[in-house]
Amino acid sequence: MSIVTNKELLDRAKAGHYAVAAFNTNNLEYTQAILTAASELKSPVIIEAAKSEIDYMDGHVFVAMLTAMAEKLSIPVGIHLDHGPSYEEAIRCLNYGFRSVMYDGSALPLDENIANTKAVVKAAHACGVSVEGEVGVIGQAADGPEGKQNGMIGIADPVECERFVNESGVDCFAAAIGNAHGIYKKKPELRFDVLAEIEKRTGIPLVLHGGTGIPQEDLRKAITMGVSKINFSTVMRKGFLETLADTLKNNPGDWDLMKMLTPAKEKMIEIAKQHIIMIMSDNKA
Ligand code: 13P
Repeated sequence: MSIVTNKELLDRAKAGHYAVAAFNTNNLEYTQAILTAASELKSPVIIEAAKSEIDYMDGHVFVAMLTAMAEKLSIPVGIHLDHGPSYEEAIRCLNYGFRSVMYDGSALPLDENIANTKAVVKAAHACGVSVEGEVGVIGQAADGPEGKQNGMIGIADPVECERFVNESGVDCFAAAIGNAHGIYKKKPELRFDVLAEIEKRTGIPLVLHGGTGIPQEDLRKAITMGVSKINFSTVMRKGFLETLADTLKNNPGDWDLMKMLTPAKEKMIEIAKQHIIMIMSDNKA
């Protein structure tokens, strides 16, 4: 099956009461692991990359590689820009052939976030590409309530979310509800009261960032409240690198690159499968 838009994937997920996993990638093995896991579980999947990851791979090479891989599979695959920092970056990804882009203006005043997101929506929708926005800053877990910079995790205001959705025209958006990127130092306390109010006021598919470390019961509860895309990144990289370090330690002097990388890739497949099952998208392709 070929690449599809996030709108198609998320509308189906919301109606079917599951969420689609969006895994970041930055190389061949990582991408192969995600697609193998999703394909074996017959699950739709989104492969996303942030600007630094796109620059690392080269956007044209990434889209060509992923398109060739996806065409061989019978699952729908999304290709998405994660945390696009500017209008220009979103346009660059439209040119590469992405089918979904995120514009993250959450650190800006609301009016500016709305105006910039609306401009991205206008350009992306003209190309049939979906847009994800963000309201309320989703920080790094190290900056969270248990970290040094206590105020970094912003909680989105449902009234602002309603205005943002109505005026920007986004297809889906991420709202900060106590989640953060990276490794949580203690169990995250998601604000389900805020999430329920956001869902009531907006009604479009919601995105949960910082999926690493959120317990299954909380992920599933969020899905019942309209979350239709959940992002996972750190857990995959951690599993890959820890396994690679062990393999290198246990095979001193063996410089067969493929042999060293294979167990790390298999670990990533296992982790991706666990998370796809946690958010109930297996057998939904
Ligand atoms: P984690 O690295 O915490 O899983 O978050 C990923 C993410 O939200 C990417 O946007």
